[in-house]
Amino acid sequence: MNGFHALAHYYDRFVGADYGRIVGFIHENLQKYCGEGSLICDVGCGSGTVALKLLKKGYDLIGIDGSPEMLNEAIQKKDCLPQSDRILFLCQELPDFELFGTVDAIISTLDTLNYLTDEQQLHRLFYWFYNYLNPNGILIFDLNTLHKYRDVLDNNCDIFEEDGVFLNWRSQFDGMICSHSLTIFEKMPNGFYQRNDEEQFQRYYSMEEITAMLERYHFELLDICDCYSKSRPNDQSERLTFVARCKKGV
Ligand SMILES: C[S@@+](CC[C@H](N)C(=O)[O-])C[C@H]1O[C@@H](n2cnc3c(N)ncnc32)[C@H](O)[C@@H]1O
Repeated sequence: MNGFHALAHYYDRFVGADYGRIVGFIHENLQKYCGEGSLICDVGCGSGTVALKLLKKGYDLIGIDGSPEMLNEAIQKKDCLPQSDRILFLCQELPDFELFGTVDAIISTLDTLNYLTDEQQLHRLFYWFYNYLNPNGILIFDLNTLHKYRDVLDNNCDIFEEDGVFLNWRSQFDGMICSHSLTIFEKMPNGFYQRNDEEQFQRYYSMEEITAMLERYHFELLDICDCYSKSRPNDQSERLTFVARCKKGV
């Protein structure tokens, strides 16, 4: 399992994602293809930001993640909401996750699928997506592009500092695997800093590999766009968003 331990507590502070745009895109597609009040499974839900924003829009949610620390953050946020009985968080490792029944849509945001570094794991995950989606169910996910790994992340070092927390994030890409080394210094009540080191690994998947997998697991590709926008992918795209429909029973 990838290192989302010490980072979990600071993830929301440092992630820097445009969740409004992500949720707006997902909501628009869910309204178009699934309808009000659908049951959505968020795979790799992390600290639950996307799932909880969708909950507020009237959907029922299941959030799955392999990191107890990330889920702990999600559960704390959930407990503050009046709709908290309409979301279930499950701690499970991908790719072999288990649901109690089928769902209307599966979503997976912020390059969660890139964390499956063995291609066979991604095959298994797509198999489970097919298995757990209702006929015509919708799958929405994103993946990092080669441009992002090669031209943005490779040999890059980012430093974040805020309110007594210092995060150093270094990345290296070997053409297929991107290794992320994180060092977190957290100020303790006695004024000393505690150091935590975490490693994360992601794999680059090409658009061609993904479209072939979608076809193999009986998905109809509805859209590929530049990061939850109305724009087509281009050579500066850092993240691609895929929207597909499950052709089960068709
Ligand atoms: C970059 S975070 C994205 C979180 C969330 N989707 C968001 O948009 O903020 C990736 C998440 O995937 C989870 N993850 C990575 N590999 C996993 C695995 N093999 N099994 C279960 N969860 C995994 C991590 O714990 C982490 O919460």
